[in-house]
Amino acid sequence: MRTGSEEFRIYSPGIVAIGGNMVKVITIAQQKGGAGKTTVTAHLAVAFAQRGKRTAIIDIDPQASLSTWHRIREEKFGEDYTGLTCISSTGWRLASEIADLKDEHDVILIDSPPHIEADARNAIRAADLIILPVQPSPTDLWATKATLEIGEQENIEMRILLNRVSANSKLAKAVNADLKKSVGKDLLKSQLGNRVSFAGSMIDGRTVMEAFPGTMGSDEVKNLVAEVENILGIGKKAKGKTSKKELEAA
Ligand SMILES: Nc1ncnc2c1ncn2[C@@H]1O[C@H](COP(=O)(O)OP(=O)(O)OP(=O)(O)O)[C@@H](O)[C@H]1O
Ligand SMILES: [Mg+2]
Repeated sequence: MRTGSEEFRIYSPGIVAIGGNMVKVITIAQQKGGAGKTTVTAHLAVAFAQRGKRTAIIDIDPQASLSTWHRIREEKFGEDYTGLTCISSTGWRLASEIADLKDEHDVILIDSPPHIEADARNAIRAADLIILPVQPSPTDLWATKATLEIGEQENIEMRILLNRVSANSKLAKAVNADLKKSVGKDLLKSQLGNRVSFAGSMIDGRTVMEAFPGTMGSDEVKNLVAEVENILGIGKKAKGKTSKKELEAA
């Protein structure tokens, strides 16, 4: 006999997600410093929120760049209007922070520090998906292997995101070809270009989509979030009830 909703699922030991609200945790990881983890986290978070997902960001990097960005965002938009929940955490508190956030959020993004120590490992373990930003350079590529190995050991879905790609760069093409050979399907189709608007928009707590809507940078982030939603099965199509009729009937 079925006693509950078919959509009842266990999220992690002892925690039950009710009514099919399964929060998805995405960790942005890469031990190479400056690869774009914080930039990608902020942009993906706002893009998810713009698509109606209740989104939280967790900053476990002691540099606190993501939380600083969010504080500036609060100053700009007002505390209640950033569209995001932001908390700073350490890796060891992560599981309980996620448990606290999960009922009221659809997506949780974790920005991790540029070294794979205990905190970052916990963030990787907590993830449904790991996104590794990689700049098209051999040193970034080599540094990615350590993070990839941890994800593999933990058996977690991983995708590599080429970031700061220069238009027509021979190096980017070479790195792309190399990555395709070595990681194949794990390479995201979406890429982010090398654009000053990514940094420029974050200065006052915004993102490219807000400061420079309709630009190529903004479109790149939109493509990225749509691809990530599809991977996680939370895209509009995957979610099921999307048409007005279905929503009214729900
Ligand atoms: N697509 C991009 N185009 C242009 N600049 C970018 C892009 N992505 C990131 N940057 C810039 O690169 C620098 C490093 O980015 P970011 O801080 O996001 O990296 P990080 O991986 O979080 O660094 P850390 O390892 O120190 O935490 C920043 O100055 C940021 O503005
Ligand atoms: Mg960072």
